Amino acid sequence: MQHVQLERLLSEMTMDEKIGQLLQISGDFYSTTAQERTGPMSQLGLTEREIANAGSVLGVGGAAECRRIQTEYMARHRLHIPTLFMGDVIHGYRTIFPIPLGLASSWDVDAAAQMARISARESAVSGLFLTFSPMVDLVRDPRWGRVMESTGEDPRLNAEFARAMVRGYQGGDLRNDVERVAACVKHFAAYGAPVGGRDYNTVDMSERELRDMYLPGYRAAIEAGAKTVMTSFNTVNGMPASGNKHLLRDILRKEWGFDGALISDYEAVRELVTNGVAQDDEQAAKLAIEAGVDIEMMSVCYLRHLRDLVESGRVDCAIVDEAVMRVLELKNDLGLFENPLRGADEGRERSVVLSDEHRAAARDIAGECVVLLKNGAGILPLHADVPASIALAGPCATSHDLLGAWSWQGRQKETVSLAEGLLARHPHAVTVARESCDYDDPSPAAIAEAVDMARSASVVVLALGETSDMSGEAASRSDIRLPHGQIDMLRAVRAVNPNVVVVLFNGRPLDLTEVDREARAIVEAWFPGTEAGRAVADVLVGATNPSGKLTMSFPRTVGQVPVYYNSCSTGRPYEAKPREKYVSKYLDVANDPLYPFGFGLSYSTFSYGPVTVSGAEFDDRHPLRVDVSIANTSDVDGVEIAQLYVRDLVGDAVRPVKELKGFSRVRIAAGSSVTVTFSLTPDDVRYVHPDLAFTSDPGEFDIMVGPDSRHLSSPIRVVLKS
Ligand code: GLC
Repeated sequence: MQHVQLERLLSEMTMDEKIGQLLQISGDFYSTTAQERTGPMSQLGLTEREIANAGSVLGVGGAAECRRIQTEYMARHRLHIPTLFMGDVIHGYRTIFPIPLGLASSWDVDAAAQMARISARESAVSGLFLTFSPMVDLVRDPRWGRVMESTGEDPRLNAEFARAMVRGYQGGDLRNDVERVAACVKHFAAYGAPVGGRDYNTVDMSERELRDMYLPGYRAAIEAGAKTVMTSFNTVNGMPASGNKHLLRDILRKEWGFDGALISDYEAVRELVTNGVAQDDEQAAKLAIEAGVDIEMMSVCYLRHLRDLVESGRVDCAIVDEAVMRVLELKNDLGLFENPLRGADEGRERSVVLSDEHRAAARDIAGECVVLLKNGAGILPLHADVPASIALAGPCATSHDLLGAWSWQGRQKETVSLAEGLLARHPHAVTVARESCDYDDPSPAAIAEAVDMARSASVVVLALGETSDMSGEAASRSDIRLPHGQIDMLRAVRAVNPNVVVVLFNGRPLDLTEVDREARAIVEAWFPGTEAGRAVADVLVGATNPSGKLTMSFPRTVGQVPVYYNSCSTGRPYEAKPREKYVSKYLDVANDPLYPFGFGLSYSTFSYGPVTVSGAEFDDRHPLRVDVSIANTSDVDGVEIAQLYVRDLVGDAVRPVKELKGFSRVRIAAGSSVTVTFSLTPDDVRYVHPDLAFTSDPGEFDIMVGPDSRHLSSPIRVVLKS
């Protein structure tokens, strides 16, 4: 449709039909069976007419069902306006990829784009038009369960992954490429910084910090063309995001020029009342529509009160028209007026969803996301030359709960366990514990069996971790260690066999201090997705040489939280005077994390040569070139992720002691070396000043390169010329 036709359509709509477009309700309301509908309908008090008028549907997947709903309800709509199917395809639709915190550990943005491309294809043929992804909330607190959905603690890396995922979901021609879906960047904004790491809790920080650290990821997604944005549950500096005019109108729309549709999170408009900033649902509707929220997800403040607010003159009708037009434009951008079923195709669904090709991609990508945290005595990769030499035990050994908390259409029965993966690789060398093993409290029998197996095995692989519901939404933990029973099992096995390899399946950085003490090797596998067992077995047996690196710090203890690599200097830096009393430190634990941002080992060994720079100065016309030669001194081909860090020595605000300003994922053949080149421009070192200007300052900078944020070259001092 041309815009003028949309304008005409808008002019023909009644107020009820306009407000209907601003309502999103779940698939229950469209069920073919009455009893499935009556509960939700009475809960929200919806009539059949109101359901027929609703502008979009939450959480329906399946070509047949989406086709049925679209066909039936377009016919019921007086103006035959198509609905819009939206859902949570966070890291895969039915073929599930690693959770985003794992995906980011690959540092492979092309892999993220490929994951999004495959997710889009599977979603689109299954009837979805839009996914509530990418989630780009910057995170620094592993107590918060939703760190599993994020790409970590660095704004630059978050931005790169956000752009890649939007590219993968939307492609270049969303209207005509019906096997793509619209992206929805979330949760706007700063949902990842709740006080105490407790989900939905208060977020309060300076606007300078918000803009410098937390907003870049969302902005990158929008600049990449994300069609929609979702507001977050949390308050931002005293006002919940869904009523926060400064955040939504001043920053998102005016400053960034975002003119797409803005959807609230689930009931977040109505929660303006429970947050205590709206007297009642009517005031919540007024706050949200004036702040710029277009679609109200699963609450009915708009439905029940917008008409009166407009008719009484308390809300300008133009604001409602503006919101409705954005919804119509979104539908038009998806081509729904000409093709309301888009890619929904049962035949394609059968051939595309969970195809071998997609499984193979999931396996490859999951292998890239595994982070080797420790490999004492080179115990890995496993050598399967001795029959029954590998004992596999632990609660995750045979578990299929490896998809993570946001795997919606993913199915555990289609997921490969570690036992299945390892036995497929080495059927004669691997013995799997038979006792069922509880995650929280492995039974004495399970522990006894593991110990007994360990007595005769050359290596014990202990598969430990969290259940998927121990992270994700509403799953914050105050204690981020493994469940105590698992540590007991580790200690008992270690007592009879020092060759213990711990494989972790988890959704957050854990306190691994005890595990690091007991285990000879530690493999961080995250929740790897449908191909989990094969991908992790590939790494354990050496078919995949691990290359993953952390994008979120692993603390030594929860008492250090928040601990992150890009922290600012203080007036009394511990590092400068470690023996002094009056410096910034703890009495009982070191300042730095157990495993730092950017850290990960390989079966190869890489040696960094001297770092060279193109000159002592740089400016707009003369970017700084930074070169480093990296040698693979092992006999195993490998991939290294070299990282460039920069320190701005003097700023108009305190500056981080180091900031990631470049990374390069390079394949280096055994025994050879490559030269990695980075480029640094004044734009790369811009930051938000106290007056909120986003600019760079002339002055001195330290340049450092290395395999992670801890092991860096000696700083090279350069000057940014004005
Ligand atoms: C939620 C989540 C959000 C999700 C939405 C729809 O509560 O916060 O990330 O997209 O509901 O399922």
